[in-house]
Amino acid sequence: MATITSSEEITALEERYQLATYKKMPVVAERGEGVWIYASNGERYLDLYGGHAVAGTGHCHPHVIAAIRRQSEKLLFYSNLVYSEARARAAEKLVSIAPDSLTKAFFCNSGTEANENAMRIARMATGRENVITFSGGFHGRTADAISATFLGKYREIGKPNVPGHLQAEFGDLDSVRALANESVAAIMLEPIQSMAGVRMSDPLFYRELRQLCDERGIVLIYDEVQTGIGRTGEWFFAGSPAGDGVIPDIITLAKALGSGIPVGACLVTGKLASHIKENDLGTTFGGGMIAMAAVTATLEAIENDRMLENVVSVESHLRERLKEIEQVVKVRGRGFLLGLEFAGKVKPIHEALLERKIITGTSSNAKVLRLLPPLCLGKEEVDILVEALRKIA
Ligand SMILES: Cc1ncc(COP(=O)(O)O)c(C=O)c1O
Repeated sequence: MATITSSEEITALEERYQLATYKKMPVVAERGEGVWIYASNGERYLDLYGGHAVAGTGHCHPHVIAAIRRQSEKLLFYSNLVYSEARARAAEKLVSIAPDSLTKAFFCNSGTEANENAMRIARMATGRENVITFSGGFHGRTADAISATFLGKYREIGKPNVPGHLQAEFGDLDSVRALANESVAAIMLEPIQSMAGVRMSDPLFYRELRQLCDERGIVLIYDEVQTGIGRTGEWFFAGSPAGDGVIPDIITLAKALGSGIPVGACLVTGKLASHIKENDLGTTFGGGMIAMAAVTATLEAIENDRMLENVVSVESHLRERLKEIEQVVKVRGRGFLLGLEFAGKVKPIHEALLERKIITGTSSNAKVLRLLPPLCLGKEEVDILVEALRKIA
């Protein structure tokens, strides 16, 4: 194979051989460290997007790298047919930070898989088929999860849709009540709808959903693929004051859980777990040793570096400083899942920030710029963003 030298050559090769996915930024990412991405041409970018919210511990956290390296020298992989110290430790650690009632973990490889399995568990446990999800929610791109996604064009992309999906309006309990009959196995929601433009409901909505589920024997699933693992400044949205302390029956996770090693998980109550027998669930790669080592080390790194505390204090610094930017009319969200709502469209702002070597995210709301930075983002880096916004907004 020829030696690749320039960014242009790398870009051309990828364009030639890879199917289209997203519109790519003109960045050839070569190396990462904390909140910084270094491009192959030597430029450095402040990463406030974390590769789709994955780099929770920052890029290449040394504790995570060391754990992956150690595990890779012992055993790369064996499936759930055997026991493994790496898996045992990851499951114990994940359950130890979860709300008390969620006592069992199931590991898979992605957010969409976590949601598919969560819906399956709810259907098996209740003997019912339908799942209520919400306008604006995003749950993944595999058949059942995309059919549960009532955001933009996704159900269209996923056609033919899987039956068993009902749409309610986010934040509107009456719309849920009208659908929540004895055919409904689960209500699933992103407690903060990220891709829809960082939409939250008021705390009462989550409480009322919990009550409705309890009354009608419905499983409540929080898709915390984005909100989980410290992003809101707490380990989970579940149990937080923003959600009135409500604990769902299942939490689904992925994204930041493995610091970049693909891994997803469902955290499940003991009661639901009692309905799951051998061979009801399965996966080849889920629970593999490298991913499990990454999970344990990710959670340890967040604890060791006091990242949850960091999120809380840096979020308040950011909110304070954003008051200086007149064009930012509202800051939505919690912790490091933030939507900066501008008076006009954010596309030019997103592009101008990229020219200044700052990576941010857009959303399906044209006026909302999304920030999903590593949990180790510092106040100095917030100041870099604010100074850039001052110049361009
Ligand atoms: C809230 C939410 N759920 C599920 C998913 C799907 O995760 P994955 O891309 O790992 O399948 C995503 C991905 O963006 C997400 O944001």
